[in-house]
Amino acid sequence: MMTPLHNSPPDTTGYKSELQTDPQGVLHHLLTLDGLSRATMVRLMDRAQQFIDGEEAPDALNGIAICTLFFEPSTRTRLSFQRAAQRLGADVLNFDAATSSTTKGESASDTLKNIEAMGVRGFVIRHHEDGALNALAASADSKTRIINAGDGRSAHPTQGLLDMLTLRQAKHVDFSTLKIAIVGDLLHSRVARSDLHALRILGAGEIRVCGPAALLPPVEDGGGTLHGCLVTQDLDEAIEGVDVVMMLRLQRERMEQGLITSLDDYHRDYGLTEARLKRAASDAVVMHPGPINRGVEIDNVVADGPQSLILKQVANGVAVRMAVLETLLG
Ligand code: CP
Repeated sequence: MMTPLHNSPPDTTGYKSELQTDPQGVLHHLLTLDGLSRATMVRLMDRAQQFIDGEEAPDALNGIAICTLFFEPSTRTRLSFQRAAQRLGADVLNFDAATSSTTKGESASDTLKNIEAMGVRGFVIRHHEDGALNALAASADSKTRIINAGDGRSAHPTQGLLDMLTLRQAKHVDFSTLKIAIVGDLLHSRVARSDLHALRILGAGEIRVCGPAALLPPVEDGGGTLHGCLVTQDLDEAIEGVDVVMMLRLQRERMEQGLITSLDDYHRDYGLTEARLKRAASDAVVMHPGPINRGVEIDNVVADGPQSLILKQVANGVAVRMAVLETLLG
């Protein structure tokens, strides 16, 4: 049975909106989608769509230096930000944590300050700690712009934006008509949190979340992360008739021992197979932020099948990141 959770306010990511926007609502940093206006989200998606439709802005960030400051691994986010910055004419510096002076104990804050001193104005930052970018944004130079490329379990705002753009392209409808299932390791997923914030802002019709109890955020407080969602541990029930199935990666690197019994058990209960997908609407689409654990949360035939938007998400990531960089730094 699906349990509706409506009786507590949505959680917040701990990011302060006054750090992110000025009193007029103009974006200074992009730390979270939580609290962003619908108009701002739509404007960013519209601009990204213009880039997809062929518009170029090769001089928009001419002479502006941007650093990708990643304290955690990444393929899609880092490279698509680099690609986006290059297409806007920016100079891109790549910080490699493994060979940097953070290995000698230098803090993230001192690292940022030193790179700022080299004339860098834009920072795309990934960090393992929830809310790590608060302190960085608070202490940054007033001309510096910071973009959250994923922090802990908290937020991955550009992934949320690119997911919404991908959904908007695929469904061509008002979000209020959509039924969406988000499936898997919600406990550790910053993508799920940003998608949930975005879906609420855009007025999604029905959001179902599904996963084993150990991988769902706590619900004893009556909502929090899952505010406004229908919650179930039964995947067949979760995807019955939905328009969109968003699968999440099983985040084994963040997982304590014993949260799942085995990968085979997880696949049996929560893996998206071709047979299971037939329960969704016949024109349902499948999304996954990547990287994929093939054969664990999703089967090859589904990940690579006609209903999959996974590579479309990746392609849209470049355009969304162009829109964000141009908005903040252009
Ligand atoms: N979706 C995503 O954040 O992928 P990467 O970890 O490869 O950047």
